[in-house]
Amino acid sequence: MSTPAPAPLRLAVVGCGVIGRLHAEVAAHSPDLEVVALVDPYEPGAAAVAAQLTGLGQPEPRIFADLAAALDGGGIDVVAVCTLSGTHASLALEALEAGAHVVVEKPLDVAMGPARRLREAAAERPGQVVAVISQHRHDPASLAVHNALKAGRFGTVTSAVANIDWFRTQAYYDSADWRGTWALDGGGALMNQGVHTLDLLLWFLGEPVEVTAHTARVGHERIEVEDVAVAILRFANGALATLHATTTAYPDLGVRLQVHGTDGSAVIAADELTFFHARDAEGTEWENDQVARELREAAVQGPQGDYANPHLTQWTDIAAAVREGRDPWVTLEDGLRALATVRAVYLSATLGRPIRVADVLDGAYDEQATHTGFTAPLGK
Ligand SMILES: NC(=O)c1ccc[n+]([C@@H]2O[C@H](COP(=O)([O-])OP(=O)(O)OC[C@H]3O[C@@H](n4cnc5c(N)ncnc54)[C@H](O)[C@@H]3O)[C@@H](O)[C@H]2O)c1
Repeated sequence: MSTPAPAPLRLAVVGCGVIGRLHAEVAAHSPDLEVVALVDPYEPGAAAVAAQLTGLGQPEPRIFADLAAALDGGGIDVVAVCTLSGTHASLALEALEAGAHVVVEKPLDVAMGPARRLREAAAERPGQVVAVISQHRHDPASLAVHNALKAGRFGTVTSAVANIDWFRTQAYYDSADWRGTWALDGGGALMNQGVHTLDLLLWFLGEPVEVTAHTARVGHERIEVEDVAVAILRFANGALATLHATTTAYPDLGVRLQVHGTDGSAVIAADELTFFHARDAEGTEWENDQVARELREAAVQGPQGDYANPHLTQWTDIAAAVREGRDPWVTLEDGLRALATVRAVYLSATLGRPIRVADVLDGAYDEQATHTGFTAPLGK
């Protein structure tokens, strides 16, 4: 007799905007999930997502104006926090304290204080999964590079170059009050757009030690945050990296991430592996034509079928982590480290000196919560 499939996890999607809609759609395509609640103070937003779900043949979810009301009703296994970035950690904490597993969209939050409080609460509840979305860790190209690094195929890792050369129109920033604010977006090109690539950089190179950075707002109006950030990062293994994140690179050149070592290098551009050269344990050099094998070995299998995207792959891992009582692929600690590194960039730009990431993680700058300025113009 075959074992019956486990019941789907009952999911509440909190925040029914651009990304909440995607989480609901992903859940509708996943055997692991069923959306039972939608939470948004803007009722038409939640109603539109409910209609999307029923249109996909899903049961009609209940709609709530706030998370407390949804949690009061019970019957929720996992909460997906898809709201404005500055509300992430406090909503995640509320869900965690109510006994739910939690999935937080990137970035984990915009300030270290709430993020650190979430970490403390999670440590007291080891049975509950807390995951942070970083869907590009599931791209086959990212997995291939990570696996090659782990196996030592690039030799001594020396350096990396991360370029996030995006373009966002003024209309994008004008489209919602929270965009481009310190309190709710928490930063600009780096906190909102660049954090995906920064997370990959940390995943590849390990513990970031120190950050030196400058930031500027040069291509947009009516935003408080930077639209250009440049930084130098020093890692515990001795490697150095440069980071350039902008939303002013017209017409949008996308993302490029290079990793270099004494035995090999890799380049990921637009989520694809465009260069790969490495050495295996026997000393044989691997060129691009052998990468397909590496990719096959590396790829974490998400559900097969017409509907596939990295969010679905990450959710598949998260559901398995809940069922198996293990850590998810991208942990709260990973999200915290990425956030601390972004904060180190802003602190360095504001204070005009290198910032140690461990100090940010330890709360040394918690009082400088969200409001940081730009690098002072020379001579001022
Ligand atoms: N992983 C990715 O690729 C990706 C892509 C886009 C956005 N995001 C992240 O998702 C988050 C939301 O971005 P978006 O573009 O969907 O924003 P959005 O403005 O489109 O949607 C946010 C929604 O949250 C609702 N909301 C606000 N406060 C709430 C609360 N307390 N409870 C419930 N709902 C609340 C708003 O009414 C709105 O409908 C951001 O943190 C962003 O960084 C991630």
